[in-house]
Amino acid sequence: MLTECAVPLHPIFMPDFSIHASSIVDDGAIIGADTKIWHFAHICRGAKIGENCSFGQNTMVAPKVSIGNNVKVQNNVSIYSGTTIEDDVFLGPSCVLTNVSNPRSQVSRRSLYEETLIRRGATIGANATIVCGITIGRYAFISAGAVVTKDVPDYAMILGVPGRQRGWMSRHGHPLKEKDADGRFLCPESGYCYQETDGILVCIDIDEEDSLPENVATGAKSYREFYE
Ligand SMILES: CC(C)(COP(=O)(O)OP(=O)(O)OC[C@H]1O[C@@H](n2cnc3c(N)ncnc32)[C@H](O)[C@@H]1OP(=O)(O)O)[C@@H](O)C(=O)NCCC(=O)NCCS
Repeated sequence: MLTECAVPLHPIFMPDFSIHASSIVDDGAIIGADTKIWHFAHICRGAKIGENCSFGQNTMVAPKVSIGNNVKVQNNVSIYSGTTIEDDVFLGPSCVLTNVSNPRSQVSRRSLYEETLIRRGATIGANATIVCGITIGRYAFISAGAVVTKDVPDYAMILGVPGRQRGWMSRHGHPLKEKDADGRFLCPESGYCYQETDGILVCIDIDEEDSLPENVATGAKSYREFYE
């Protein structure tokens, strides 16, 4: 259920969502149930945020931004107008989103914000920059510090400046390197199989639009432990 906020400038702990006393949610912002907003955040008028999201310290959501369910926004992230974020996206600490390709202080382009779409389940690593006007595909993984200038396919792992694809990353965040005899990749954490056809990767075992079943939704080992 979505709840429309009245100008909360004081501590509020609504039954459905919680906002730290230091944060500001403008009149008309819409925030879904069980969403948490931590210290010094600003959610602007007309922003729409889904359920079960979290916004870390010093985050900002601009007018008209649309954010799905279960989105995790780490500290120091500003989400500018023109951005659409689907369900289950992870925005790492201090990553940068943009909305004008050619900003000039003397030229107003307020009606010309460019659109950026971050699709379901994608991860944007810490301190990465997303140049506007592109689509980041489902479950794509943008590594820490990358600068992404072009559309990114589903499950692509992008490294570096400028960002280049370096293989595939599973839905559980593991590089998919070696194919089995049937030409499929296996995720070491979930056991899910992935098939690449003509440069497009799909998961054989679960539809990209389905939620993860509970038995594979909690990690049991850290990333490094898989490769020790
Ligand atoms: C993408 C990532 C998972 C790769 O980790 P990894 O598998 O341990 O990488 P490896 O150490 O095996 O490195 C493989 C290659 O990629 C390079 N590489 C790894 N991470 C890189 C990065 N962020 N940017 C550029 N190159 C990177 C390595 O230098 C290495 O290159 P080489 O083969 O030429 O020597 C990791 O670097 C990353 O960015 N994680 C995101 C962390 C994050 O932002 N978390 C936010 C929440 S706290």
